[in-house]
Amino acid sequence: MNLLEGRKYNIITFGCQMNEHDSETISGMLQEKGCREVLTKEESDITVINTCSIRENADKRFFGTLGQLKKIKEKNPQYIACVCGCMMQQQHIIDTVKKKYPWVDIIFGTHNIDRFPQLLEKVACEKQKIFEIMEDRQDIVENLPAKRLFRHKAFVNIMYGCNNFCTYCIVPYTRGREKNRHPEDILDEVRGLVGDGVNEVTLLGQNVNSYRGRGKKAEDTDTVCDFADLIYMLNDVEGLERIRFMTSHPKDLSDKLIQAYVDCDKLCNYIHLPVQSGSDSILQAMNRKYSREHYLELVRKLTEAVPGITVSTDIIVGFPGETEADFEETLSLVKQVKYDSAFTFLYSIRKGTPAAEYDDQIPESIKHERFNRLVDAVNEASAHNNAAYVGRIEKVLVDGRSKRKDNTLTGRTEGFKLVDFPGDDSLIGQIVNIEITEGKTFSLFGKVVQRHAAF
Ligand code: SAH
Ligand code: SF4
Ligand code: F3S
Repeated sequence: MNLLEGRKYNIITFGCQMNEHDSETISGMLQEKGCREVLTKEESDITVINTCSIRENADKRFFGTLGQLKKIKEKNPQYIACVCGCMMQQQHIIDTVKKKYPWVDIIFGTHNIDRFPQLLEKVACEKQKIFEIMEDRQDIVENLPAKRLFRHKAFVNIMYGCNNFCTYCIVPYTRGREKNRHPEDILDEVRGLVGDGVNEVTLLGQNVNSYRGRGKKAEDTDTVCDFADLIYMLNDVEGLERIRFMTSHPKDLSDKLIQAYVDCDKLCNYIHLPVQSGSDSILQAMNRKYSREHYLELVRKLTEAVPGITVSTDIIVGFPGETEADFEETLSLVKQVKYDSAFTFLYSIRKGTPAAEYDDQIPESIKHERFNRLVDAVNEASAHNNAAYVGRIEKVLVDGRSKRKDNTLTGRTEGFKLVDFPGDDSLIGQIVNIEITEGKTFSLFGKVVQRHAAF
């Protein structure tokens, strides 16, 4: 008998696309067991919280949500509370969960997601708690199911883990060392997705530029497929319209990849290229392994080779030892690059990382003051860039109804700009030509010029 058949589940996801994609897998596995997704944790018999540990506020939000599960558990004796994700790869977090949140039934980590259905069955059957974490693993589990958030677009992992150890970052500790999927497995997955109605894939990895896939067959194991090779390969997949990727580390961005933008029509003219800081001494203290000059040279090459490419970034403010002069270098870089958008973060101490031990931490008040100045500079650049879109016709992949405005659809241009426009639901999942009528700081507004784009 399948004990899980018919049970209702709800997944709460914190963090990046990796986590969102892991949640899609968890959802897929639960559906295979006959479970049914519901919209709120209050309605569910199984809640899964997929956690993120990138900054302190992510940790805090998790503990807040976890506290709310106690009441649900008291009302429903069948209820199973599960927690997983990056926070669970840290012993001090597990200790806190065990001590302060005794209503948690299952803990698993980032390396053993595939085990979740077995753990759940065991808990449902034996009514005991299971905490199972793997430190890291060598192999990659293929062919797990996934219930995608969108019908028409999908995330595809090309690699797992990170070897870079930026001194502020927890990810290498929570996701383990780099592991590359075989190119054939990636290709098979993408073909399968296209067959299932997907027209855009986003290739995921913490540093996709260091992807080194090897062939599966004995005679191919010495053949290395690098990231650019992979793009060329996927560009030939019939029926696929768009290829994106996240995230590209500046230290490994090759000229070959820049050429791939020129040669591969499906590779979107967009790059997310996290700079983190504009100051050489801070970049060095962060262990980023590139200089301001090298970064600017990359942006120059990209914009020269790929006219109209949009560029976004991540920036950390208030890294230990950051002086006013260092910060001004970041500001000047932002003004020079004129990013289309930027995710800006206050440096957050992460236990177990080298920078957490640095004694020249920056006071919160200074961090905030710099943060506000940075946000102003970023917004000024994106508003300026977006204003220039008025009158242009952009190809927009329609994602769904907009939450910002009634009777409006929302989608993304090739350059990843958010566009809202009036239209009916039949356009969802299609690529349509939109004339931009308004350029705001964070999004564009437009109107449909033609029902279907010509490819
Ligand atoms: N692998 C990606 C980044 C993943 S984390 C890359 O290297 O680009 C996403 C972003 O979170 C990082 O780019 C960084 O800007 C931010 N971040 C990571 N650790 C942080 C910390 N301790 N405090 C503040 N921001 C942090
Ligand atoms: Fe973190 Fe650096 Fe790895 Fe990105 S490359 S996940 S910032 S350690
Ligand atoms: Fe967070 Fe883990 Fe992603 S720490 S940002 S969910 S890799």
